[in-house]
Amino acid sequence: MRHLMSPLDFTVEELDKLLDLAGDIEANPQKYAHACAGKKLATLFYEPSTRTRLSHEAAMLNLGGSILGFSSAESSSATKGESVADTIRMISCYADICAMRHPKEGSALVAKEHASIPVINAGDGGHQHPTQTLTDLLTIRSLKGRLDHMKIGLCGDLKFGRTVHSLINALVRYPGIEFVLISPEELRLPSYIRRDVLDKNKIPYEEVVRLEDALPGLDLLYMTRVQKERFFNEEDYVRMKDFYILDSRKMELARPDMLVLHPLPRVNEISVEVDKDPRAAYFKQVQYGVYVRMALILTLLEIEV
Ligand code: NCD
Repeated sequence: MRHLMSPLDFTVEELDKLLDLAGDIEANPQKYAHACAGKKLATLFYEPSTRTRLSHEAAMLNLGGSILGFSSAESSSATKGESVADTIRMISCYADICAMRHPKEGSALVAKEHASIPVINAGDGGHQHPTQTLTDLLTIRSLKGRLDHMKIGLCGDLKFGRTVHSLINALVRYPGIEFVLISPEELRLPSYIRRDVLDKNKIPYEEVVRLEDALPGLDLLYMTRVQKERFFNEEDYVRMKDFYILDSRKMELARPDMLVLHPLPRVNEISVEVDKDPRAAYFKQVQYGVYVRMALILTLLEIEV
């Protein structure tokens, strides 16, 4: 039985197949409309979410399956002290597959150990967010036509941003990838990722503080929100939260074909005036997120259409 804990759980070839499947789903949705008839997806969300939970649910509904679950720790038996291990054992009796988001790093691994159904890690603390990465890869491949030979700017909260951590892990497997890490000193990419992922794979990267300095050379800019909920004190968050604001004036510095991605939710880091720029791809990214999660559910349940 397969689970999805990290984007590296799939080989590059398997990922290609998954993205091809997502592309076929986009082109022929009717073909897949009953593929999961009689199957149930459980969403176990111990942390707030809009897109990730609803897109997993939409994906299962689009496949003709059904959904059940909870959307906050407060509405589950976690408030009574139940462990993830016990919860997942029970959920295995109610559903065929589950997606779980939890504030603690490593929680998805605990779930996997105790589950008898496939577990999708829908975000574990500041660690990984593999389904967002699948979404990002499908968006980049669909809009740029490739996943290799690109200079990618990652901007914002690179310390706590799990979407960035997962995306870096996935992209270093493609040739010709370079990163520009754009963050304030306090929110730099953790050294374990610089060392164990970038250095180990000999990936060229530079670290800069000013977004304006990085913009002109980029093929893609991945903006992120400052992760308020992972800060230890409010004062630091307030100091950091508006460090970067991408607006139309800054977009003039960028190439005419540079894509702007953002996992969302956006707070202030992308001004709404950028939404109408043809390079803004973050709302298209949301739609790709549904197709790729449909492909993921089919793959983990080993359903062929
Ligand atoms: C991201 C997350 O939860 O890590 N959101 C999402 O799933 N699209 C990014 C964020 O919350 O900033």
